[in-house]
Amino acid sequence: MAGNASDKQPQGRYYIETWGCQMNVHDSEKLAGSLHAEGYTKAESAEDADVILLNTCSIREKAAEKMFSDLGRIRAIKNRRPELLIGVCGCVAQQEGEAIFRRAPYVDFVMGPRSTGSLPETVRRLRGETVRKRTVDTEYRRDSIEFPFDRIRREGPHSAKAFVTIIEGCNHRCTYCIVPTTRGREVYRPMDQVLAEVRSLAERGTYEIEFLGQTVNAYRDPEGNTLAELLHAASEVEGIRRLRFTTSHPAQMTDAIMDAMAACRPIVCPYLHLPVQSGSTEVLKAMRRGYTRERYLEKIEALRARIPQITFGTDIIVGFPTETEEDFQQTLSLLREVEYDSCYSFAYSPRPGTASLELVDNVPQEEKAERLARLQALQKSIQERRQRRWIGREVEVLVEGPSKTNAERWTGRTPENRVVIFDGETAPGRLERLEIVESTPFSLRGRQVTPVS
Ligand code: SAH
Ligand code: SF4
Ligand code: F3S
Repeated sequence: MAGNASDKQPQGRYYIETWGCQMNVHDSEKLAGSLHAEGYTKAESAEDADVILLNTCSIREKAAEKMFSDLGRIRAIKNRRPELLIGVCGCVAQQEGEAIFRRAPYVDFVMGPRSTGSLPETVRRLRGETVRKRTVDTEYRRDSIEFPFDRIRREGPHSAKAFVTIIEGCNHRCTYCIVPTTRGREVYRPMDQVLAEVRSLAERGTYEIEFLGQTVNAYRDPEGNTLAELLHAASEVEGIRRLRFTTSHPAQMTDAIMDAMAACRPIVCPYLHLPVQSGSTEVLKAMRRGYTRERYLEKIEALRARIPQITFGTDIIVGFPTETEEDFQQTLSLLREVEYDSCYSFAYSPRPGTASLELVDNVPQEEKAERLARLQALQKSIQERRQRRWIGREVEVLVEGPSKTNAERWTGRTPENRVVIFDGETAPGRLERLEIVESTPFSLRGRQVTPVS
């Protein structure tokens, strides 16, 4: 959906490249909105842009390196058009700061995720200068959470679904993780502001909202409202039909939140991403996750007791320093026990400034790759079995757009977050009733029944 049209003079075109998590995707919607408010419009490609922003991710080394190789490509454009403005934003910007200029001296500014609000000022200044003064803005602003929501420019194919930030930053100190450095400490958005945004989205036809935060269930606003109160209040907003939230930390999954999820059914969707990272209590301790295997499984049970149809997703790190074959076996057994519907798995990647660097990275690279492959094979077989159970059932799907693998088909998601591919007459943003006729480990095939909207 378009943000407010700008009444400023046309300034040129921008192009934003985005890596990383949903938070980054949504930050790009804020960056785009800030540039629109300044009079810029979106360019079709980097080649046509006057301003290029790279919104970067540094969660694993590969992600960060990818940014530098992409910068090389953008440099070629700048060689042809020296007036092009290049900004590095996001988590690599925060982590590397000045160092980015040493590797890529043609970059004009570096701006961390908590400085998004200062983009208009930075761009205005740099474009006005005949000799550009490069800048680094990596301040952890507490007011970053107060970004004016009417300025957000949601770039998705339809306006039916929207991300809404409720908390920024992370107060945990998982020993492998760079996020507390790149995003700073937690700040929370007052619930009345969150609800004002939800209402405004609902008035514009949005009916699925996903609340965002690195530890979204740690939300507590200055009035003492938690995610439980927010779920209750948001599910009462007229027009809202689906609510989701991501990412939840298992240690902060309180009874009150679980009760609210159950009480707000069916608006709160019966799917929860609850990253476990490892099935071994020893490894969880070394990761400083703040829960044991047993405690995590209790949370899963407590959620299933309240919401029998709930399904789960998770993240796993394999090959964390000190992880033995036995520890790894415990992760495999946890996957069998929980039966996740989706699992993002990664080989441990040492990150600058994190506590795990002090541990000996004693799992050889090949062993990490091998464990990852074994884990993924197991998860695939679990998903295959679980997905098959949907065949013959009728589901409601929010249509997202053309399928990535076949543009003549549509793709959408069920409340349980299952991807369904189907043919027929529809449009992005519509809700369709489908009968599931086929399954693969990663998606379902559906056939239209009767449209519900
Ligand atoms: N806030 C979320 C995680 C955000 S990062 C949470 O607490 O669960 C997304 C995922 O990246 C993590 O869940 C973890 O599985 C993975 N990850 C983070 N740091 C990593 C590292 N150094 N090496 C490998 N994977 C990592
Ligand atoms: Fe990283 Fe842990 Fe915070 Fe998640 S909870 S963002 S894994 S430090
Ligand atoms: Fe990456 Fe930063 Fe998100 S490191 S995963 S973009 S918080």
